[in-house]
Amino acid sequence: FQAHDFHGAHQQGITTPRPAVGMIAAFDVLSTDRAGLERLLRILSERIAFLTRGGRVEQRDARFPPTDSGILGPQVAPDALTITVSVGASLFDQRFGLAAAKPRHLQRMVAFPNDALDAARCHGDLSLQFCANTEGTTIHALRDIIKNTPGLLLLRWKQEGTVPVMAPKADGSTESARNYLGFRDGTANPQADDRQLMQKVVWVDGSEGEPAWARNGSYQAVRIIRNFVERWDRTPLQEQEAIFGRRRDSGAPMSGTVEHDEPHYADDPNGEITALDSHIRLANPRTAGSERNLILRRPFNYSNGVEANGQLDMGLLFIAYQADLEAGFISVQQRLDGEPLEEYIKPVGGGYFFTLPGIQQGDFLGSSLL
Ligand code: HEM
Repeated sequence: FQAHDFHGAHQQGITTPRPAVGMIAAFDVLSTDRAGLERLLRILSERIAFLTRGGRVEQRDARFPPTDSGILGPQVAPDALTITVSVGASLFDQRFGLAAAKPRHLQRMVAFPNDALDAARCHGDLSLQFCANTEGTTIHALRDIIKNTPGLLLLRWKQEGTVPVMAPKADGSTESARNYLGFRDGTANPQADDRQLMQKVVWVDGSEGEPAWARNGSYQAVRIIRNFVERWDRTPLQEQEAIFGRRRDSGAPMSGTVEHDEPHYADDPNGEITALDSHIRLANPRTAGSERNLILRRPFNYSNGVEANGQLDMGLLFIAYQADLEAGFISVQQRLDGEPLEEYIKPVGGGYFFTLPGIQQGDFLGSSLL
């Protein structure tokens, strides 16, 4: 029953180890003025502090609706819950007079060439990322927040996902979990426990021409990316491996033997070992200067149901954090545009958000913005 303290310089749920269950819920803000927005952010902060710490739910008078949905029983366990609050570009329109405070790179997501964006699963004034050990905990938290913000928040869309938590092996080494295309995902991610690296890759530090309030926040890129798994499962293994640039079973790069071997591209300029248009080589060419495009990926696999044509609706709930949305997600996605993997994937939703800086006890999320 691990609890992540919600207070600190940064919000939880970014460099926090990824638990088994994740969900992104995007909302419209219904408040019409700054005072209403502040009320919303205060309630969110108070609910998140309770939900992530856990505790007993006091039921007052049975003539009233219960204080809590009750789905976890009267004792709410923290269950490694994190709730990460981020805001979309639309929050900085005329409603709250915050236009001048908009983070420098925050913008409305526009479609990339392979996208088929479904308007009902895109954008939002506010996103909440819920992560926990079990699904009951994330659903309980979502319902708690909806119940406590009547007239303030309207749910637009949500997407849930799961990922197996990989325990270190007996020799201390680790392997990455697999996505629904069967490949290990997360291998080359920057180390989330390396504070200095995270300071560069993930956190806004105030030196980038960002408004002062945004320091210690981060840009969140969310993409719901459908995988055409039936087609993938009928594709030769050697083609699958060439598409990613890694071996399926081990996760090793084509130029190595074990998962965490560094890929070598310098001695393979024509892509005879690792195809030039492979996913990993395009996403991170490892050339001088490309380290400024690093992003921290923290995705979940999703499985929703069945499409009208009888195909499985499953894929990747892609979530990435970066200190600069343009140098990060947008540049990497532009390099990936046209990659051979596109035959098997279709981005259908998501949005760009700015994750608010962390807060100290007694303060509320977004206080530096207001
Ligand atoms: C690496 C899968 C979408 C950025 C990888 C790897 C796999 C993978 C298997 C290799 C292992 C690893 O390092 O994690 C997928 C799938 C996707 C997808 C199935 C869609 C369904 C994206 C998107 C982006 C992205 C949308 C960003 C725009 C990266 C990056 C790497 C990577 C930066 C690491 C490359 C390196 O440093 O070597 N992905 N990915 N991926 N992917 Fe993706």
